[in-house]
Amino acid sequence: MTSAHNRVAVLHGVNFDLLERRDASIYGGLSLSELERRIQSAARERGLEAIFFQTNSEGEFAEYLHRAPELADAIVINAGAWTHYSRAIADALELTGLPAVEVHLSDVEARQDWRRVSVFDGLVLEKVSGKGPDGYADALATLATHLGVSG
Ligand code: DQA
Repeated sequence: MTSAHNRVAVLHGVNFDLLERRDASIYGGLSLSELERRIQSAARERGLEAIFFQTNSEGEFAEYLHRAPELADAIVINAGAWTHYSRAIADALELTGLPAVEVHLSDVEARQDWRRVSVFDGLVLEKVSGKGPDGYADALATLATHLGVSG
């Protein structure tokens, strides 16, 4: 059921449009639309409604974040490689003023050193990494609690 303050914008950054073609041993082999179906069902179990956005353009990603306060009450962000260097995306996330959780399908702490760096440090309620699609359910649980929404 949709009620006020339960909309979560789930944002995927660069290369997520080809998720099913990325290394299945790291990313699981599912497509972005399969992932989004799973996220929506986890959201509804928590009384949340997910809306989705993906782009390979950093500028479009920033512009979506600029509009986010009109569209959503909270954010789940998986910015892909931008996570590790785009101060512009971090500034745009901060500008939203919305509660946010950072998610990574893979365990970014256990891969290359540069993937341990996140521009979202200090801006997000939590960072969920290495849990595959289930990581999004964890992020949504955190946001539901934060928003005071129950399923
Ligand atoms: C990722 C991890 C990033 O390091 C990588 O650049 C991605 C995907 C993940 O979900 O595991 O594109 O964000």
